[in-house]
Amino acid sequence: MIKTVEWTEEGVRMLDQRLLPTEEKYLMLRSYEEVAEAIKQMVVRGAPAIGVSAAMGLALGASQSVGTSVADLEFDFDYMCEVMGATRPTAVNLFWAIERMRDALRRAKASSEDVVEVKNLLVAEAQKIFEDDIKANRSLGRFGGELIADGSTVLTHCNAGALATAGDYGTALGVVRGARDAGKRIAVIADETRPFLQGARLTAWELQQDEIPVTLITDNMAGHVMKQGKVDAVVVGADRIAANGDTANKIGTYMVAVLAQRHDIPFYVAAPISTVDLNCPSGEEIPIEERDTREITHVREQQLAPDGIEVHNPAFDVTPHDLIAAIITDKGVARPPYSESLRRLFEV
Ligand code: MRU
Repeated sequence: MIKTVEWTEEGVRMLDQRLLPTEEKYLMLRSYEEVAEAIKQMVVRGAPAIGVSAAMGLALGASQSVGTSVADLEFDFDYMCEVMGATRPTAVNLFWAIERMRDALRRAKASSEDVVEVKNLLVAEAQKIFEDDIKANRSLGRFGGELIADGSTVLTHCNAGALATAGDYGTALGVVRGARDAGKRIAVIADETRPFLQGARLTAWELQQDEIPVTLITDNMAGHVMKQGKVDAVVVGADRIAANGDTANKIGTYMVAVLAQRHDIPFYVAAPISTVDLNCPSGEEIPIEERDTREITHVREQQLAPDGIEVHNPAFDVTPHDLIAAIITDKGVARPPYSESLRRLFEV
């Protein structure tokens, strides 16, 4: 099993995703600041993985707090939450995990005045968030696997696999794995996903490791392969799903959804319920991260564009809900109208 992020006695251990697929290197992060920086620099990325990492970072920071009372710990913890929350704005799982850790602190405080005990409860909560994520992805993989017919080829964008989550199944790739584990023969077409190349570097690597047949294409080939009848379904992950079903995912996803509609191919979104943000009415309110221009002008050290060129680098786009055939979660499958079906899933 790919271990994206792991709690250890020494600190938070992370697979450095910036180096894949040519180097498999693990980093040991020994403070919450190091974890926050790793999220910002995309050592770890993918909405659920960011949430799990943030929770572990907060647990690490809390366990290292020198405060001798619960009130001191709480003061330090508030600041840590601010630092963690300022790392990446789009993936709601980050804020969901921070809120879950804040809740754990509130509960711990109500049950104990012993600062060591409270710290231990925060570490336990972070580990629980890790375990819950793996379970959620297994569950959505089972639900989603049922929607994919035997012999299908699934097109995916970015990496929504084990590497984008706590490990194991993943979200969009969890659906592929769910179908495979139900005995179906499934192949994947992976968009390379400019500019950070999560599809080429991560999805291709992860599926190869798992011996799931995968063909890599550049993003601008998606329409062509659909027109040739080579795609039976599109399955992508999500960074934030608004209450009306509008979905923020890796830049380029919207383009794929429009193409899928044109070719009458079902377009599915797969994400744990922690990615659904009922406080966000529509895609209009989802903040879109703007990243460093160097991600576009360079590939690693290689310069591709002229010096001083004007660059726009939004990391995500929003796919309107009417292009989405279903939203697959660990609580079940939501169908349009999403403003009703998503809300109902929270009652499951
Ligand atoms: O910028 P990233 O790599 O953190 O982007 C997130 C993603 O990997 C995708 O948008 C993904 O489909 C959603 S997370 C499972």
